[in-house]
Amino acid sequence: MAKLSAVVLAAGMGTRMKSALVKVMHPLAGAPMIAWPVAAAFEAGVDAAVLVVGHQQEKVRGYFAQGEKEVSFAVQAEQLGTGHAVRCAMPHLSAGTDTVLILCGDTPLLTAATLGAMVKVHEASGATLTVMTARFANPFGYGRVLKGDDGSVTAIVEEKDASDEERRIQEVNAGVYCVDRAFLAEAVEKLDANNAQAEYYLTDVIKQAVGQGRKCLSYTVADPAEISGVNDRVQLAESARILRGRINRELMVSGVTMIDPAAVYIDRGVTIGRDTVIHPGVTITGQTVIGEGCEIGQGAVISASRIGDGSVIKAGSVIEEGHLHEEVQIGPMAHLRPGCELMAKVKIGNFVETKKIVMGKGSKASHLTYLGDATIGTGVNIGCGTITCNYDGVKKHHTTIEDDVFVGSDVQLVAPVKVGRNSLIAAGTTVTIDVPPDSLAISRTPQVNKEGWKLRKGKG
Ligand code: UD1
Ligand code: MG
Repeated sequence: MAKLSAVVLAAGMGTRMKSALVKVMHPLAGAPMIAWPVAAAFEAGVDAAVLVVGHQQEKVRGYFAQGEKEVSFAVQAEQLGTGHAVRCAMPHLSAGTDTVLILCGDTPLLTAATLGAMVKVHEASGATLTVMTARFANPFGYGRVLKGDDGSVTAIVEEKDASDEERRIQEVNAGVYCVDRAFLAEAVEKLDANNAQAEYYLTDVIKQAVGQGRKCLSYTVADPAEISGVNDRVQLAESARILRGRINRELMVSGVTMIDPAAVYIDRGVTIGRDTVIHPGVTITGQTVIGEGCEIGQGAVISASRIGDGSVIKAGSVIEEGHLHEEVQIGPMAHLRPGCELMAKVKIGNFVETKKIVMGKGSKASHLTYLGDATIGTGVNIGCGTITCNYDGVKKHHTTIEDDVFVGSDVQLVAPVKVGRNSLIAAGTTVTIDVPPDSLAISRTPQVNKEGWKLRKGKG
């Protein structure tokens, strides 16, 4: 197999985004724009990729720094055109590269299947260059593809340089190419900028190839939507919608039910088991893993979490960096802040907030409670209105509640404090000292009833 390397053009700022952030780093469905074409190229079989970076290159480098793929960078300090960008990339191609797959960082919809098919056609044809093309009823703005009688490509003419007759051509340059490396290395050195935009056009290498009697062919993409680039925020939203549609479709095909897939927002990298039902308005982000047979209620927001089989997340709940074991029930309207591990069959009910807690099997906090920095055993009942007072204004302190404790309603646990196993905390108690096992803890001001008080007040 010939060694295939990708060159991804991503040096431009993308001024039409009207953003402080460089265009290719705007996120779509959980990954920056440039991550999509790069991933598609690797999935299509490239061995390495060179990213041509310029504006905010540190941000692009930062993103790929954590990846395990072979990605390197070529700096194009000044954006002098696509041909110049590729010229900058050539010295960075890995040794032994035979074929270069060139693509743009702002076309997130290109699929690995399309790229792979194009590479195959290129290798089988023996062409020096294969350019991906698409047919548009309105080709405005794109480079037009000129062809000879034998159907081979003879030139690409940019909109601004084209004659009226050339502008009528509907087959456009998608900006994706397979090119013989040795030819390309020489050709990009010979480019000039004698054109309407005074740029070094990559497309001009075609004229050189034709002049040398080499074969240039086209590969027409089946779905022209794949090549649409993102230039502004309208196209960003539209492309993100399409990417989410693909993610949702894949999940549904693998056995996930979505009540209304158009209203479900799931990031790349999320996995969901079969027979899980996702209701409308749900957002799931990060490397979240959801098991089988779960129900994710309307408006739930789940990020970077693990949720075990058979769990039910009711409407409006927010779960951040949580680890939920099997058959856990959350919500409605519960908030799990980062660092919570809930064992099997735990129940966290309405208007409960938790943070950095471990809660043992079958324990419950069903209503209106705050549990933070706490270790809670198995079979514990936390009554309505319980608060772990974990913060003294300076430091956070820990609360420990051992197995089978019953905490009545409206209890404050002033941390650091420990409640021994099988104890009962009476409703309304403020726990300030440790409770031994098998005890009753009660702290209440004795109630006083003043009979007739209201009548006397009323008479003055
Ligand atoms: C280019 C093609 C055009 C094609 C279109 C498809 C040329 C001369 N024209 O035009 O035929 O129809 O793409 O979308 O190639 N970039 C750099 N450095 C530069 C210039 C561009 O990195 O100096 C990057 C941009 O960030 C962008 C990509 O290359 O990701 C394409 O550049 P752009 O200016 O959008 O090219 P088009 O004019 O659209
Ligand atoms: Mg463009």
